[in-house]
Amino acid sequence: MSEQGFSPPTSEWYHPSEEVVKNANVPDYEAVYNEAVSDPEIFWAKRAETLDWYQKWDKVLDDSNKPFYKWFTGGKTNIVLNALDRHIKTWRKNKIAFIWEGENGDKVSMSYWRLWQEVNKFSNVLRSMGVKKGDRVTIYMGRVPEIVIAMLACAKIGAPHSVVYGGFSEQALADRIEDAQSRVLITCDGAWLRGKIVKLKDTVDEAVHRSPVVDTVIVVKRTGHEINMEQGRDYWYHDLMSLPIASVRSETEVMDAEDPLFILYTSGTTGKPKGVLHTHGGYQVYTSTTLSWAFDIKDDDRWWCAADPGWITGHSYIVYAPLILGATSIIYEGAPTYPYPDRWWRIVENYGVTILYTAPTAIRGLMRFGDAWPNRHDLSSLRLLGSVGEPINPEAWRWYHKVIGNEECPIIDTWWQTETGGFMITPLPSVGLKPGSATRPFPGIEVDIVDEKGDPVAAGEDGDLVIKGPWPSMIRTVYGDDERFLRQYWEKYKDKGYYLAGDTARRDEDGYLWVIGRNDDVLKVSGYRLGTAEVESGLVSHGTIAESAVIGIPDDLKGNVIYAYCIPVAGVEGSDALVDELKDHIRHEVGPIAVPAKIEFVDKLPKTRSGKIMRRVLKAQAMGQPLGDLSTLED
Ligand code: WTA
Repeated sequence: MSEQGFSPPTSEWYHPSEEVVKNANVPDYEAVYNEAVSDPEIFWAKRAETLDWYQKWDKVLDDSNKPFYKWFTGGKTNIVLNALDRHIKTWRKNKIAFIWEGENGDKVSMSYWRLWQEVNKFSNVLRSMGVKKGDRVTIYMGRVPEIVIAMLACAKIGAPHSVVYGGFSEQALADRIEDAQSRVLITCDGAWLRGKIVKLKDTVDEAVHRSPVVDTVIVVKRTGHEINMEQGRDYWYHDLMSLPIASVRSETEVMDAEDPLFILYTSGTTGKPKGVLHTHGGYQVYTSTTLSWAFDIKDDDRWWCAADPGWITGHSYIVYAPLILGATSIIYEGAPTYPYPDRWWRIVENYGVTILYTAPTAIRGLMRFGDAWPNRHDLSSLRLLGSVGEPINPEAWRWYHKVIGNEECPIIDTWWQTETGGFMITPLPSVGLKPGSATRPFPGIEVDIVDEKGDPVAAGEDGDLVIKGPWPSMIRTVYGDDERFLRQYWEKYKDKGYYLAGDTARRDEDGYLWVIGRNDDVLKVSGYRLGTAEVESGLVSHGTIAESAVIGIPDDLKGNVIYAYCIPVAGVEGSDALVDELKDHIRHEVGPIAVPAKIEFVDKLPKTRSGKIMRRVLKAQAMGQPLGDLSTLED
């Protein structure tokens, strides 16, 4: 589907200074790209050699059962060996791993040594609760230091974590617990957001009631408000961490390179959550390489990835890759505008942040408050800026570049997905930029833009974005559903063996890539990924709605907002009161980000003769555009 009126600024160039190019970890993109393409296996082996392994791999890539690719087979490792264990044997044990700031002003700063100890202690706690290698642990927390500790402790003992974003509600959490069959859940009493408490533990109680596989809940005290603690099931984190069992000595589990590291649920084309599976070996190689090269991490940097650990961006680039590189990170708990719209700029100034990585929706949200807020602060420590989550509109890009980056900081616009594990299309600091283009593929990655037959489209034309070969941090499968993995990503271009990204993109005359947006039933709302089906089944579960169709409508601030069309069940009349009730229901069933901006009651939905809802028609109608080809419409 072609996005009408998309005319990117393809000849607006921004070139990096000589200084930036000279000091970059990779000063010559072309040379490295060509080296990688000429022999990907040697290229990735060289990258893997920069990390520690208990035992070296026999084979870099095993492609004997495509598309179930395996990387570094025979290799023994654990991502924690590289993220922590190796650092505490060097001077780096004294380095700050992260500085955390709570929304209410609380501060924690943790050295690699201390983080290693906390992870060791908590890994022993988990073991004492019977968690073994291979057991899935669900984590549902706010943005607190303990979420990093919890994730690493799981990885250390070989228990795949499933982190559920704290903005999801009880049903979404219950579904994910059920799918992963987690016995143990780690949470917080609450989280601070915009000066208010998000009652995480209440949501957990309801979710566990709906998915009773959980028998143990570990609760971190963050907000200190009154909560229900169920005896024999619920334990305070701080109580467990002060028991003798929580020793600072803990063996890191020796893992096969292909053993699961985590499951992260993301939205697909059906309502059922899709557990994207990543493994220890390839993921550590790919995420650390991409962070080092695209964001040029140096020892004296202060890296701030402002995402949430509950999304892939946080997994890869708050938790794992920065620690593997031995970097110092900033983690901030709360809202960018609390108590005032300069909260972020204050953090940049206070901590001397050198690299800031965030989403277009956040940039647009801050831009709205004008230049005076950032101008009040010394942002001169910044040297690189980053963007992720959706296409960045050129206006926001220029503002970010000028007002935040003082026209000196390259903007690293990274295109990737939960499934890809790490950046796939991104500039390196030495690459020329155009506002709104993620530029070129990362070295080792071959992408193309193709028509329905899988043949490349001409420059300037829209097509499906595909990835042509395997890469180390690629999705291994959909947890417990190989069939869905094949259908979703590999079926469409089976003959060619291409991975289908689900995005429409275009390539310009200079070979620069412009990602236009999703072309399937996935919505991007404020950079968060949601499935139309999740919202639709949420609406139907209210009981008053027989059928619904949900679409994304472009929005200046959020990228997209949700419009929902609902057919009420017989005997129910659509009303304003019902709209409010449905919104409230979605807030509880799916989460606040899924609440539709508009709900309209209709008595029919446009469908194809085979019964598929034509969301394209609804969207064109809502936007006052021509309805296009209606030949498949049922009536
Ligand atoms: C979109 C987030 C344009 C895209 C890391 C993709 C982007 C989906 C960009 C994956 C970007 C992400 N430019 N679009 N720089 N980054 N996207 O799984 O539609 O939450 O398919 O991963 O986000 O979303 P996910």
